[in-house]
Amino acid sequence: MTKKSQPIPGRHVIWFGWKLLIILSVSLCVLALLRLQSQPDVSSYSPSISRLSRDNFNGHPKIAFLFLARRDLPLDFLWATFFENADVASFSVYIHSEPGFVFDESSTRSHFFYNRQLPNCIKVGWGESSMIVAERLLFEAALGDPANQRFVLLSDSCAPLYNFSYIYSYLMASPRSFVDSFLDTKDNRYNSKMFPIVPKEKWRKGSQWISLIRSHAEVIVDDEVIFSIFRKFCKRRPPLEASKGKLNLKLQKQHNCIPDEHFVQTLLAMNELEHELERRTLTYTVWNLSATKMENEGWHPVTFNYANAGPQEIMEIKAINHVYYETEYRTEWCRSNFTSVPCFLFARKFSRGAAMRILSEGVVGPFDASALLNYTPMIWGF
Ligand SMILES: *[C@@H]1O[C@H](CO)[C@@H](O)[C@H](O)[C@H]1NC(C)=O
Ligand SMILES: *[C@@H]1O[C@H](CO)[C@@H](O)[C@H](O)[C@H]1NC(C)=O
Ligand SMILES: *[C@@H]1O[C@H](CO)[C@@H](O)[C@H](O)[C@H]1NC(C)=O
Repeated sequence: MTKKSQPIPGRHVIWFGWKLLIILSVSLCVLALLRLQSQPDVSSYSPSISRLSRDNFNGHPKIAFLFLARRDLPLDFLWATFFENADVASFSVYIHSEPGFVFDESSTRSHFFYNRQLPNCIKVGWGESSMIVAERLLFEAALGDPANQRFVLLSDSCAPLYNFSYIYSYLMASPRSFVDSFLDTKDNRYNSKMFPIVPKEKWRKGSQWISLIRSHAEVIVDDEVIFSIFRKFCKRRPPLEASKGKLNLKLQKQHNCIPDEHFVQTLLAMNELEHELERRTLTYTVWNLSATKMENEGWHPVTFNYANAGPQEIMEIKAINHVYYETEYRTEWCRSNFTSVPCFLFARKFSRGAAMRILSEGVVGPFDASALLNYTPMIWGF
């Protein structure tokens, strides 16, 4: 009885506490709203909407071969035979090279490359964001032709390991892009200044050599937001140089990032498109693990030459049917549209000698020795 009539000493305090809490939460909400409005870019990365109008192409689809070259294309004679064994309605060629470099009779042995360089080439710094600009220029130019439905990015030292018809069916059968993409727990290239637009859980790493379906090429070209973040916060640290002496110590403390090993992978992850990917590259590369730090950023690819590009070596590459991703404990069984396929269609880095060898072995098509007679023997450089 007494309990009921007795005033509860704490009641006022509790009520006051509630009022305070309500006022506090309301003001927090208002503050949060104000904050959102003042920084619209922070709250919202909205994935780009693909240009649906162009996606309903009903004609004969083409593969766009996009060459990212330093200058000329040293393996043009190999690609010439590759393209000669193809239907011209099934492919197109685009080249990004040094600004002003012209592909014509005087600079290439194959008419497939004549005047195929972009008119708007830029100067590319290897490992810098200009590399991504060049890649995007290639994708953009190739998107101009609605027949282009697959987009293969290649370097000037990439060689095809199969004939055209094989590569065409492989790529066309897959409704997905081929993009090497993984999480690297040991990776310290993510720059926390990219947060919150690029959160760490979307940060990916992978080979630059990709093959895309059309809608993904559009995502790469249309993006402005992620690229501007990369340009600011993903920069390559200058390599060690003996001449710089003590300055090296300071330089090596800078954050190091190689944009072309992260941009496409991260952008596609940010757009929630990873389920539309085969998460592996089509381009085989062997890494030389014994290179020293002083030489560059550590590892660099082994070059194939005449001696190590024989039938046995090429057969071994072609026999690879899975790739193991150590950092994710992920085994990627190589598939194209759910059918088991060899993992690699291309390989790098090929010297002219190596390209000569696979050409004469008939790897990319019937070998026509007479075609080689036109070439000056001096330029081979085995
Ligand atoms: C292309 O290569 C595939 C597999 O290596 C082979 O089966 C096919 O006969 C070749 N096609 C042509 C046109 O040479
Ligand atoms: C992929 O495979 C499915 C089932 O086997 C088939 O119906 C489809 O046409 C294939 N897609 C392409 C692009 O070939
Ligand atoms: C690997 O790199 C080392 C050091 O640069 C070099 O001496 C060696 O020849 C390279 N090996 C191959 C297979 O390229």
